[in-house]
Amino acid sequence: MKVLILPDAEAAVQRAADFIGRCVRSRADAVLGLATGATMLPVYDVLARRHRDEGLSFAATTSFNLDEYIGLAPDHPCSYHRYMQDAFFQHVDINPARTHLPKGDAADPQAASQNYEALIAAAGGIDLQILGIGENGHIGFNEPTASLGSRTRVKTLTESTRRANQRYFASFDDTPRFAITTGVATILESRHCLLLATGGSKADAVAGMVEGPVTAMCPASALQLHAHATVILDRDSAARLTLLEYYETVHPGGRDSTFE
Ligand code: GLP
Repeated sequence: MKVLILPDAEAAVQRAADFIGRCVRSRADAVLGLATGATMLPVYDVLARRHRDEGLSFAATTSFNLDEYIGLAPDHPCSYHRYMQDAFFQHVDINPARTHLPKGDAADPQAASQNYEALIAAAGGIDLQILGIGENGHIGFNEPTASLGSRTRVKTLTESTRRANQRYFASFDDTPRFAITTGVATILESRHCLLLATGGSKADAVAGMVEGPVTAMCPASALQLHAHATVILDRDSAARLTLLEYYETVHPGGRDSTFE
């Protein structure tokens, strides 16, 4: 696992956007795994700006999002379909037919989950999976105790995740209880994983992911099993790492010789 520690959130966001931009420039038909959440909003802003100002093109890119709330139609203002439209898709040249999210309003969510796995496989798998992390160590909506061998399926959200996401809904009761999420095993099959975390509220989860035991109690810790996982952090989210100085010695200023 490469741990890149940037001086602040803005620098971490730029580094993540650099990474994604490099992937798309080196392989125009890259298959991207996309994430939602507040952490990713500034990343999509930077990518949209680079599309507009520097011609960064997503025209041949295929995308698969990690997750969607069960029960929300694509046009629901709080759906991840809507988030992706508003934050990214409508600002770049990505072909809508090549963008995919799990169908939260599917009549048969289990069948929709299996179909989603088949679509990812048919696209040749994911080249670069972008990830955020929940305060409880979730990736996608793989909550603590999710099987590390899991595939796309329906997950029950924990109360802490619903509380964290309540701000987007009218009330806690209105916050969805279930989601379709790609599984931990689905994520681990991606050729490269890039996780971005910013802010002190993620420090415990980040420490569990990078230095804790590999455990279903912290699903992000499964990334320790991935041969090409890169974690981009700001100083606040890195604050509880025991080997902080080591990571800063290996990658001074968050630089990574592979990509510079
Ligand atoms: C959300 C999403 C995750 C995201 C995480 C952190 O609920 N399902 O994909 O990474 O929780 O979100 P945020 O960036 O808002 O802290």
